[in-house]
Amino acid sequence: MAIYFDKETKTFYLEGKSTTYAFYINNFGYAEHLYYGKRIHRDYIIYTRSEGVRSCIATAPGADNVSGQKSFHHMNPEISFFGTGDYREPTVHPRFASGDRLTTLLYAGHEILDEKPAISGMPSMRGGKTLVLHLYDEVKSFGADLYYTVFDDCDVIARRIVYYNDSGDTVKLDRAYSFAMSLPSGEYDMLSLHGGWACERQPERVPLHYGVASIDSKRATSSATLNPFMAILGRDTTESFGDAWSVSLIYSSSFVLKAEITSSGEALLLGGINDFDFEWQLGAGESFETPEVAIAYSADGIGGMSRALHDAMRDHLINEKYVKAPRPVLINNWEGTYFNFTKEKLCAIADAVAGTGIDTLVLDDGWFGKRDDDKSGLGDWFVNEKKLVGGLDGVIEHVHSVGMKFGLWFEPEMISEDSDIFRAHPEYAIGVPDRARCYSRHQFMMDLTNPEVRDYIVNSVNAILGKHKIDYVKWDYNRNVTEFFSLALDSELQSEFAHRYALGLYDICDRIVSANPDIFFEGCSGGGARFDPAILYYFPQVWTSDNSDAEERTRIQYGTSIAYPLSAMACHVSASPNHQVGRATRLATRGDIAHLGATGYELDTTVFTDDDRAAVKAQIEAYKKMERLVLEGDLYRIENPYTSNYFSFMIVSKDKSQAHLTCYRSLNHCNPAPHRVIMQGLDENKQYYIPELNLILHGSVLMSVGIVVNFGKGDFETKVYHLEEK
Ligand code: GLA
Repeated sequence: MAIYFDKETKTFYLEGKSTTYAFYINNFGYAEHLYYGKRIHRDYIIYTRSEGVRSCIATAPGADNVSGQKSFHHMNPEISFFGTGDYREPTVHPRFASGDRLTTLLYAGHEILDEKPAISGMPSMRGGKTLVLHLYDEVKSFGADLYYTVFDDCDVIARRIVYYNDSGDTVKLDRAYSFAMSLPSGEYDMLSLHGGWACERQPERVPLHYGVASIDSKRATSSATLNPFMAILGRDTTESFGDAWSVSLIYSSSFVLKAEITSSGEALLLGGINDFDFEWQLGAGESFETPEVAIAYSADGIGGMSRALHDAMRDHLINEKYVKAPRPVLINNWEGTYFNFTKEKLCAIADAVAGTGIDTLVLDDGWFGKRDDDKSGLGDWFVNEKKLVGGLDGVIEHVHSVGMKFGLWFEPEMISEDSDIFRAHPEYAIGVPDRARCYSRHQFMMDLTNPEVRDYIVNSVNAILGKHKIDYVKWDYNRNVTEFFSLALDSELQSEFAHRYALGLYDICDRIVSANPDIFFEGCSGGGARFDPAILYYFPQVWTSDNSDAEERTRIQYGTSIAYPLSAMACHVSASPNHQVGRATRLATRGDIAHLGATGYELDTTVFTDDDRAAVKAQIEAYKKMERLVLEGDLYRIENPYTSNYFSFMIVSKDKSQAHLTCYRSLNHCNPAPHRVIMQGLDENKQYYIPELNLILHGSVLMSVGIVVNFGKGDFETKVYHLEEK
């Protein structure tokens, strides 16, 4: 049984693949956290909770001189709240009609469901046995349902809270987080992923201090600045050993994740929708759904935690139809032509790679409206026939005639000032009356909180997709909200803007994706600035970064893999010298690094020589051999490019019969020591054949003695190894 309730001790044991999450209902009715970690027996563990009130610390409400009394100093409730002696960060902050902001949420019952209900209008994980814990404040007729979902096949718990207002008055929610979770007193580090354009998701590990550490976004998007992901690690935890917990928020708007070390040295993790510039009007009888979080645990270090997250996202979050299906191997024209293309040029780009294994031409920005640069046309989703003589169909027919599929770029959430749609409907753009708007990449944003705007977007995008034979869509998003205001919202609802933007985004994603079930969608955001679990729910892969230089990509892909599976990362071979950093690298190096994800090409293929074509063909054949591992395998990060001159990723099949190792050396040095790489994740007792070394070796040898990697001369060299069980 995945969820077990011991009636005598009122203890809940939630069991994932190899973890236990436990809490109990104490004498006062509070749900008190007990444990989250490695799977344990269902023993009595309430002995870990102490009783009593220290001086200067408040009792539980009304509990003076009551035997077994508790104060919040001793209690770690599954939800923290304000004004009743709990001075930690509150999970919820309601403002009742009387002005009173206190709440006490006590156990009022529970249900165990065989399958998790989907959240209406928001992305969430699929399947999994679910506990719904009903907590209620009798005084205020205010409730919170805490959802916990466990999965038999991965070490992730999905959590969220639904707040509801049974009273006759509106309750204002100043804060409505998705979860709170305690960890016992200890020494902890926080690992987060920060970055910017072309340098997304760089890991940063810092010690947690007494007080509150937080990461957030106030941009109405998840952003490249800080990913909605936070891991808490034991101070001694490494890539391969030790306790690692993580929180991934399935949300694509302003968020906050916090880790508080309390005065007793315990840790409290919590977060959800950012409560900065947030206030939700919860009308009488209404409920408020918070976004879901995926909480992972591994005793096998950061690597184990990543593998738990990869499994959970692949098996329970990303579109089942596509997540493990072979991905389109595409040629994207962006870096090959930028805005400067014709039908003839696009056809020539396709012709140059037809027959190599590249199977899809993606036509990027510039095919619609009046769009010859980034100053105009966004929102006018009709084909620019002046530029593309013969329309889209001319290109599509040609691409099909050489055996390839066709993909198209959109940026549905945007509007250019110089566009027909803005001239007709300036109110579709986000803005505050009488104030000048901020430009970003010369463009404004569509007001997705307005249903009429959403209908316009859905209808115009679906019209193009319905009219032409399109197999693939790249959905871009190149700026962030500046004016947090909607003409379509009443004044008292303006602080709901950022969350309503997310709901609007989910609505248009859902309506466009579900109307086009045979189209494969890729997310993008000025590179990888919106690489988050909510986007992955709609789009199975995301453009990882506009920086496609192989050296830089080792770091970006390393950091991204901490929280996301390889199959979610779109990785392209681009031109050399690279357009972002000017570095020259070999085609083989660019290919080997781009193979560690959903691979593709993005350069002007019309300059290819016969040798280049042959090399690309060989690269794709090699990719096809490792594709299953990229889509389904377990990732082991062997060498870290942030801390060494090397990068290596090893991917091992679930049954450990196959593996692939990619090794990369940044700079060459004279007279180097032999470079030994110790493998991970194999079966010690299996024998593996490695054709590149012509060796058959046991897993035990490969994981203790390792192999010696002899890189060629020069910088930015790669070596790849295939392992096949003998
Ligand atoms: C963004 C994307 C690029 C490309 C351009 C087009 O920057 O990240 O891949 O699509 O937009 O304008």
